[in-house]
Amino acid sequence: MNELEAKNRISELREQLTKYNEAYYEKDAPLVEDYEYDMLMKELAALEEAYPQFITEDSPSRRVGGTAAAAFAPVHHARPLLSLENAFNENDIAAFFTRLVKSGIEAPVFTVEPKMDGLTIAVTYRNGRFVSAATRGDGVTGENVTANAAAIKAIPELLTEEIPVLTVRGEVYMPKRNFAELNTEREDNGEPAFANPRNAAAGSLRQLDPHVTASRRLEVFFYDVIEGGDFLGQDQMLERLASLGLPVNEERRRASDLSGIMAYIGEMTERRHDLPYDIDGMVIKLDDIRARDEIGATAKYPRWAIAYKFSPERAETVVENIVIGVGRTGALTPAAELKPVFLAGSTISRATLHNEDNVRDKDIRIGDHVLIQKAGDVIPEVVMSLPEKRDGTEREFVMPAFCPVCGNAAVRPEGEAVRRCLNVDCPARLYESLIHFASKKAMDIDGMGQGVIRKLLDAGLLTDIVSIYHLRREKVAELGGFGDLSADNLLKAVEASKERPLSCLLFALGIRHVGERAGKVLASSF
Ligand code: IVH
Repeated sequence: MNELEAKNRISELREQLTKYNEAYYEKDAPLVEDYEYDMLMKELAALEEAYPQFITEDSPSRRVGGTAAAAFAPVHHARPLLSLENAFNENDIAAFFTRLVKSGIEAPVFTVEPKMDGLTIAVTYRNGRFVSAATRGDGVTGENVTANAAAIKAIPELLTEEIPVLTVRGEVYMPKRNFAELNTEREDNGEPAFANPRNAAAGSLRQLDPHVTASRRLEVFFYDVIEGGDFLGQDQMLERLASLGLPVNEERRRASDLSGIMAYIGEMTERRHDLPYDIDGMVIKLDDIRARDEIGATAKYPRWAIAYKFSPERAETVVENIVIGVGRTGALTPAAELKPVFLAGSTISRATLHNEDNVRDKDIRIGDHVLIQKAGDVIPEVVMSLPEKRDGTEREFVMPAFCPVCGNAAVRPEGEAVRRCLNVDCPARLYESLIHFASKKAMDIDGMGQGVIRKLLDAGLLTDIVSIYHLRREKVAELGGFGDLSADNLLKAVEASKERPLSCLLFALGIRHVGERAGKVLASSF
């Protein structure tokens, strides 16, 4: 589904659900069964989560039981949360520097920080205790996300001191690794993937159910004080926040001239891909907080800070082939095999194409020149094809109606983006299911990784999940690469997995829609 289709589907769903709501709540005359209503609501929520740009406060997904009570009540910020002016090159930063000197700051000292690509949050503590949290909104009025923020472990409930009032501003973000895992899980479940960690963080914070927020493992860095506390400099303020127990980014540097600023920006441009989180630029701040107050702000931006934005990194390459991967739920996912190209810190030879609609919408053909980028700096994806470079030898991709591994029918149910192999005994599904079953968050069978599973399958020692528990030590020890000791260790790990809690077993079984959290809910209620 592309952005336009998502937008249309969202408005269609809203219209339908509003009609059903009226019938149910105002006329007491339901038009549909609860189940159908729930499914439509779920579809709407998933789309709004993946495309937060289309979220509106009057959406049926934001209303609780017929009333127009917005899910997130408006909050007036104690001080406007200003945005930052952008700089795109050294000249822009030089101009910023000159402006500061002209306004009377003689020898400015700066703190240069990574610009986190997340979602702004303002968190208030009273007497050292977490009391509320709000999104930035339009800067003047945000949304009350207290319940969800309380579910984020990285936001401490208590500070180390009982200071009367402290409101801090920071950025909630999703680490790259969590983002990659979340998207794999969503694609497995046929849910729309998030475009980047920023969208994923925003979607996870603006949730009706705080348990969902909790399960998304968000992190936060604080970088400003809105209310409470009097500081001399940025660096000193950050140290103070850290000593109060608030997460601050240790990655920052002081600089006292343009060349110092540019040197750090140059270094971070190189290093950004090695960071565990996404950054989209660097923020350059006048360190002296008293001086900041003197030079003030325009209606939108402070005059004492500027954001240097990295240019998005893309690379051109050629699609040599389009191949199909089969996931554990049978989902067929097309991927482009690419002429290897270096991009954002690594060599890329394969990129996901998400699903057949995406290939069609972007008109990506085998042999095409394409632009690729990394979603959230991690997952390579094809942004667009370059049709002007075609020479007529390119071939259109046709999604197979059969599983490329087992040859059974692959079916795409109406309304779903994903085509699935329906054969529960498909070898590709079995292989992926075993990997999932043995993985850390599932049954955590140490030593049973991809290579070992492949070997055990090829030797016929594994035939299904249950066969893991019938493995015989002598048989395993006979396999190439295994000795008595490693066979012993593997069987010990299998034995130990029997102690895993029921919730992990439920998750490990790989039932569609039963993720880690659903596993816990099911285990605790049964
Ligand atoms: S300072 C009044 N520092 O970038 C100064 N902002 O494009 C407030 N951001 O709205 C901003 N990392 O949400 C600051 N280290 C950082 C930041 C940061 C990310 C965000 C912030 C702001 C946006 C501006």
